[in-house]
Amino acid sequence: MKMDNTLLEDINKQINREFYAAYLYFAMATYFTEINMEGFAKLTKNHAKEELEHAKKFYDYLILRDEKVTLFAIEAPDTNWNNPIDAINAALDHEKFVSENIHRLYKESKEKGDYALEVFMGWFVNEQVEEEHLFQSMLDKMSYIKDCSCEIVNIDRELKIENEYVE
Ligand code: FEO
Repeated sequence: MKMDNTLLEDINKQINREFYAAYLYFAMATYFTEINMEGFAKLTKNHAKEELEHAKKFYDYLILRDEKVTLFAIEAPDTNWNNPIDAINAALDHEKFVSENIHRLYKESKEKGDYALEVFMGWFVNEQVEEEHLFQSMLDKMSYIKDCSCEIVNIDRELKIENEYVE
């Protein structure tokens, strides 16, 4: 079954959004490295890798469906974060934005009767629940202790252990 043209265009835009997300998390990893928060740097670098996997998943799916992949230019992320909370807040905002797009794609594939795409999109719907939870829970912890920067250092130490970066 050929994919609806509007849906195809939006999936190609989603590939771009996933690559942009990888770019954003690599930028965050750079920021955290610069301020010597090694744990946060590892977490965000690992997350950038996950975003590349997401982009590849969409890319491979279009190939599988014999549809045309279009790669658009990747925008430079805004990196004016004032502190770690600011950066993690930006990560959460970004994941909410991605969720909105994923939900729209899921809804439209259902409405247009593309059941294969609907099932494929289901994986991303669930994935976004985890992605938002990851940054929301981290932000909650950081917000509770915002007046005690030594606690942020403790969180960073835990993240460093949990997020050994696999090359
Ligand atoms: Fe691919 Fe973090 O969404």
